[in-house]
Amino acid sequence: MAIQSEITVHKIAHPKGSKVDFGAEIRGADLENLSELDFAVIRRALYENSVVLLKNQQTLSPRAQFELTQRFDPVSTSYGHGKTIDAKRSVLHPDLKTIPHQPQVQVIGNGPVAEYEGLKNITLKHPHHKTFHADPLSEADDRDNTRFYRWHIDAALYGLHAPRVTTLMAVKVPKTEPLNLRYDDESNDEISVPRGSTAFASSYKTYDLLSEEDKQFARTTKVQYAPHPYIWMSPARSRSDGLGLVSEGKELPYSELPPIEKDKVKILPMTWKNPVTGQLALQVHPSAIEKLHLADGTVIDDLKEVREIVHRMQRPGIAPEFVYPIDWEEGDLAIFNNHGVLHSVTGSFLPEEVRIFRQCNLAASEGPLGPDN
Ligand SMILES: [Fe+2]
Repeated sequence: MAIQSEITVHKIAHPKGSKVDFGAEIRGADLENLSELDFAVIRRALYENSVVLLKNQQTLSPRAQFELTQRFDPVSTSYGHGKTIDAKRSVLHPDLKTIPHQPQVQVIGNGPVAEYEGLKNITLKHPHHKTFHADPLSEADDRDNTRFYRWHIDAALYGLHAPRVTTLMAVKVPKTEPLNLRYDDESNDEISVPRGSTAFASSYKTYDLLSEEDKQFARTTKVQYAPHPYIWMSPARSRSDGLGLVSEGKELPYSELPPIEKDKVKILPMTWKNPVTGQLALQVHPSAIEKLHLADGTVIDDLKEVREIVHRMQRPGIAPEFVYPIDWEEGDLAIFNNHGVLHSVTGSFLPEEVRIFRQCNLAASEGPLGPDN
């Protein structure tokens, strides 16, 4: 008798007008007791759908969340950002609180929390775009409107390899009215998002939307990331669409960064291959880029030019019709392919609105799969 998994996979039904072709719900999985076959079904679903959602997982322990995350890369053991040195200057510093008994799992969210998983009397702060965007929304517009805070890959991009997947669990979700997310660029684009939604865009779609000439460029170009990128970028500010920084020369000079070890600087392919489907993703962390290495050996090191090239290639992929803003419900566990999507925080909360999420990702055991060319 063949042993079968009871897990089923259901494509997410996106609203009318959406052209999002990714996202699926996985049903019937017992995450604390996954057989090899069950995990194989989940892994395939993840790589075929980029983002998968499992409902009613509120009883899942931080340990089980870590173990699930680790199954995608069994050799990996440590958090995706490691123990970031000089963390106080990093733009990531205010957003994460580490669970003492499971240090690969971070608590993120908003508001005062008396006790959660061994963390006592903590105050969480939902990242607000006004701390990162060059030209934020006005105070008057801020409660009803929002921005993409920062489109990104979860990755240290210095020394450590980019985690394969991130798991994100919604523990406590304040439900309020949806927000109008404004791009505030020349497009007049806007999209309605649930407050505090995590927005996803498929980097496979972004690649597919390129011209043949740009696809060729993307397959043959490598991206060099700044050393200690989150410290390097800390004085700089973002475009209003959250997709990379404006070029005002504010990045820290190397002399003001922690010591730089040359072999830790990341020069990565511009396209990353899906290990299951073979599709290529245009996978670039737009805020952390510093140089482009072209096929003919040319290095583009003019930061403004580097950013213009990458923004022109990535912007079509975050158009409203291609963005999947998750409508979080308590107990939701999302797993996303961190080598195939960009994601962004959205929204804002009042100081007293309590929101608790748990995030886990692990520095990968090896670099991303590049294109075959
Ligand atoms: Fe993230």
